[in-house]
Amino acid sequence: MNCFLIAAERGAARVQALVRLAEGLGYTVLYAADFAALNRDRAFTEARRPLVLVPEGEGAAEGAIQLARAEPSRAFVVYVADALAPELYKALVRSQSGEWIGWGNAAQELRDVTKGLGAAEPADRAARIVSFLPSKGGVGNTTLAVETGIRLSSRRKQPLRVALLDLNLQGGTLADALDVEPRFDIAEIVAQPERLDEQLVDVFTSRHTPRLDVFACPPRRIALGDVPPAILFTFIDTIARRYEAILVDLPQAWVPWIDNILQGSDAIVLSGGATVPGLRVLTQSLTHLETLEIPADRLAVAVNACETDLLGRIAHRAQIERPLSGRSVFCLRRDGATAEGALDAGRSLFEIAPNARLTRDIGRLAEWCVTAAKLA
Ligand SMILES: Nc1ncnc2c1ncn2[C@@H]1O[C@H](COP(=O)(O)OP(=O)(O)OP(=O)(O)O)[C@@H](O)[C@H]1O
Ligand SMILES: [Mg+2]
Repeated sequence: MNCFLIAAERGAARVQALVRLAEGLGYTVLYAADFAALNRDRAFTEARRPLVLVPEGEGAAEGAIQLARAEPSRAFVVYVADALAPELYKALVRSQSGEWIGWGNAAQELRDVTKGLGAAEPADRAARIVSFLPSKGGVGNTTLAVETGIRLSSRRKQPLRVALLDLNLQGGTLADALDVEPRFDIAEIVAQPERLDEQLVDVFTSRHTPRLDVFACPPRRIALGDVPPAILFTFIDTIARRYEAILVDLPQAWVPWIDNILQGSDAIVLSGGATVPGLRVLTQSLTHLETLEIPADRLAVAVNACETDLLGRIAHRAQIERPLSGRSVFCLRRDGATAEGALDAGRSLFEIAPNARLTRDIGRLAEWCVTAAKLA
């Protein structure tokens, strides 16, 4: 795992001491001469949650604070100095993406602050991430994530180890859909990030089948904006070592870290409805995704609950696909009886209605995920 070190003079004794400490914790150290050079470095801009070490120097504390506060805050910044003015310390820590450590006990303190980041153990086989992004509420986003999870974890050829992560932190319905007890108490790691370790991950895991785990929050009120992105990314990095695929059920309400998750995803399914207003919000979401420069081959549009004609074919397919031209579009039919039946039973469509046409529609979407995210 990489960490970035801001140093104009690489040879300075303290810089070298810091390099040895970071390497001792399993990091590969990459240098940047200053903050501007760091922000030009693609290894940094493309890292999901980079650690940045800033040894003291002129303007270094201010630069560290600015970096930790940068929206959306991705980097975790550690400022190393013998002293730091109280107001600068407050600003650094309040960013929730920065810490100060002293030179005297740097080895111990660096280990402590990076332990909470889960950074000490580099991921050797990290899971691929597939995000399910709803263009509006109630379009079946959770259903699609859950069914894809079931499908990937029970493929006849090469079943995958899958985690379903419900980031609807308030009132998510993913655990209900599979009739498991939600155990991912994110408020606990927000309060004490240093507690996040493999044992706590075990406590947070709800097992659906030996190949499918669920991370969903129990109904305890926590606002999306109150979760520091660094904590969320650390959590994802930590569980990534356990699975081949993490399917993320994103909330409809937007917060800046959602864009980071999208940019860090190997594939994205944008879900929406087939009505005229439904297609309008879908195209608006696509415009937003364009600003994030998501490659076209990583993105699919799932138009759910489409009406069917007398022969059971998707009605008005051409009208649906026209505003989405050039995209991978999956039209999934409306089948209230089957969808509700599954929900009421707390079981999946693949279990209760494997031959229903809706189930097969979702199967095609799941196979797209396998290819787009290079899961197999
Ligand atoms: N293709 C479909 N045909 C009919 N009903 C469907 C279909 N897909 C999902 N549903 C039903 O629509 C309802 C909403 O589904 P779901 O909870 O998956 O949506 P959501 O986008 O996650 O909603 P929320 O915004 O509440 O998170 C559920 O009752 C589900 O069974
Ligand atoms: Mg949902």
